[in-house]
Amino acid sequence: MTNMKVLISKKTGNYYYYNGVGEYHCKEGFLTEEQLHSGENLVKNSKDREFLIFESNKHDQFQKIKRGPQIITEKDLGYIMARSGIDKTSSIVEAGGGSGGATTFFGRICDKVHTYEIREDHCKIIQSNIDKFGLDNVTLTHGDLAENIESMDKNSLDLLFLDMPEPNMVLEKNIDAVKSGRYVICYLPNVSQMIEVTKLIAEKQNLYVEEITEVQTRHWRVWERVSRPEFRSEQDFTAFLMFLRKL
Ligand SMILES: C[S@@+](CC[C@H](N)C(=O)[O-])C[C@H]1O[C@@H](n2cnc3c(N)ncnc32)[C@H](O)[C@@H]1O
Repeated sequence: MTNMKVLISKKTGNYYYYNGVGEYHCKEGFLTEEQLHSGENLVKNSKDREFLIFESNKHDQFQKIKRGPQIITEKDLGYIMARSGIDKTSSIVEAGGGSGGATTFFGRICDKVHTYEIREDHCKIIQSNIDKFGLDNVTLTHGDLAENIESMDKNSLDLLFLDMPEPNMVLEKNIDAVKSGRYVICYLPNVSQMIEVTKLIAEKQNLYVEEITEVQTRHWRVWERVSRPEFRSEQDFTAFLMFLRKL
């Protein structure tokens, strides 16, 4: 994956991903192996269309990770990173691993990440994505986080991130593993989940609902005469982010 190049058609704005071997064919024509490895950023393909060629960065590679369950979006990950204060010294536990979207993102920026995933088929996808990013600071357990949370070392985590249908199964346990002042963050695609979590937290003494947020992005397209927001899925609602601060 790290050898991947990104090809952008200037005519259509379409993105293509080249795995680094052979020619590249798509519906807009083809590029030769020589062109693809020439080091030039701008070349013309077999149909005389201009293509931009770049070495892939981590964002490009994130677009191409193997997918099973729906992955978290970069817009939400960016806010979680900034708002939770995590950094290269942080230890994180998260569940469910799903496709490993959040797992691999946290793995790139934090010291240690441990992910729990209850489904074996999802574990295989997560592990393959961890391997593709070459992350040796990320570990995966096939199991239920709710059954494991209370056996973790006290005050060992800078973040507990929950992206699972029933976060209350974890939240009703003792969350002593999270350090005081750090966060449990729930990623909640439904209002009903948010209400259920809020009700449970009202009964708990050691978690404070500090913020409930929805992150929106708006991409713009600028033409000669018409400039307007683009229709892109990231503008749609994805989830509520609930920041619970540990006492
Ligand atoms: C929406 S996916 C998570 C997506 C993930 N954040 C990503 O970015 O790829 C939710 C996952 O939670 C898993 N799950 C549900 N309950 C769980 C539990 N108690 N412990 C561990 N994993 C769980 C499901 O099997 C599913 O794979």
